[in-house]
Amino acid sequence: RADLRLGTRIAVMRAGGLALALRGDPVARLMHRPWRLDPYPTYARLRADAAAAGGVARSRTGISAVATHETCTAVLRDRRFGVRLADGRMPFDPTSDTERSGAGADGRDASTPTSEQDPTDPGTALIEPIDLSLLALDPPDHTRLRRLAQPTFAPKRLEQYRQSARKVTGRLLDDAAARGTFDLTADLAAPLPISVIAELLAIPDVDTPRFARWGRALGAALDGVRSVRHAHALARATADLRLLFADLVERRRADPGEDVISQLVHALDEETVTLGELVSLAQLLLVAGFETTTNLVGNAVRALQASGSWDDLVADPGIAPAVVEETLRYDPPVQLTARFAHEDVEIGGRRLRKDSGVLVLLASAGRDPAAHADPDRFDVHREQTTAHLAFSGGVHYCLGAALARMEGEVALEMLAERMPRLRPAGRMRPRVATVLRGPQRFPVRVG
Ligand code: HEM
Repeated sequence: RADLRLGTRIAVMRAGGLALALRGDPVARLMHRPWRLDPYPTYARLRADAAAAGGVARSRTGISAVATHETCTAVLRDRRFGVRLADGRMPFDPTSDTERSGAGADGRDASTPTSEQDPTDPGTALIEPIDLSLLALDPPDHTRLRRLAQPTFAPKRLEQYRQSARKVTGRLLDDAAARGTFDLTADLAAPLPISVIAELLAIPDVDTPRFARWGRALGAALDGVRSVRHAHALARATADLRLLFADLVERRRADPGEDVISQLVHALDEETVTLGELVSLAQLLLVAGFETTTNLVGNAVRALQASGSWDDLVADPGIAPAVVEETLRYDPPVQLTARFAHEDVEIGGRRLRKDSGVLVLLASAGRDPAAHADPDRFDVHREQTTAHLAFSGGVHYCLGAALARMEGEVALEMLAERMPRLRPAGRMRPRVATVLRGPQRFPVRVG
């Protein structure tokens, strides 16, 4: 019966959104096929609507959107916006109330479990479905947790990760070359970041297909739960992850290392982090660093092939960093994020009421002609005069940006060196999603 109720709720929400999309509401269109397959014309319409409406496009869904480089940057940097509602509650959470949300005296999230809870007990709600840790926290909790995760991304560690990324990519390309035709996503773009994150979290004997499954279920949840089947996959993925990280915490306690989990276990013992926060942060690192980077590699190869600039990369693999930057501007893996006004705010001449939500269309900012000349052209020799927003901005700026760039560079450089005659070998199947964008299946031939 619970499944039936959930199924009915999902169907009603989808039908309502689709009705608005069909009536020409561009914000609603972003959530529905076929507009999700190519959202760029919708972004252009939203930029035009926003220009007419003073910078903010409104939807009958009640959600607003900012679509230009200027307004996206302004919202991301403005401390009057947060990822939660003004009183600390999570948006769209019908079960959350003020008491649960930790508007309490210590300012901590009361829904976050304490270190006394047993993370292996399936009855313990250690991870609410799709608990996004840092991404769902405003300062000061956000600042405290982010500081704990930051040393993992120190530049000196990047070199060590680069060496192992090169080794793993070499091995993956050897296997792919032996087959002649392979799936760029499943055989290179997904396993590479999984192995780098496994090293970052010092997870022994990583089971790549299982990680890929978890990543897909959690990544898809960024768009909301879309079916009962997905709800089950999500519940399974979060339960599996809870067990994995609970086990890792115990191992690191007994035998600490240099990795991020060991640092967090130390913080746990010092009581600067709770067990629930630790587990959800580790889960975020896993998800944030995996599906996104997979899509970066896929989107780059797709754009290189479609624009005829693959041969430019083959002629000079040293341009891989420029290809990565241009892909991040032209077709970024994370298309949008959301913020909520903590007070009445005026943006681009429009007033947004306290607690109203605004979609920040990061991918649209990259195609804004006011910020980038000839923005719909993929140009690997482009002089990047304005920063793209693919890694967001403000306090939530992507912690793994340098790592993601490095992985993208290694994958593209080695692919061009080792497979200069790489060509598509069938129909690319895109992921049909609103937040994450990239090829789900990308058959290619070595040459
Ligand atoms: C945050 C994009 C790779 C870890 C973010 C945000 C974006 C983003 C847009 C901010 C969302 C918001 O403002 O609401 C990307 C892209 C990647 C990538 C496009 C690959 C091309 C990675 C990697 C890691 C990582 C490799 C780590 C292993 C994080 C973390 C946050 C974050 C921890 C949360 C930061 C905070 O809230 O303070 N990422 N990311 N990301 N990313 Fe990435």
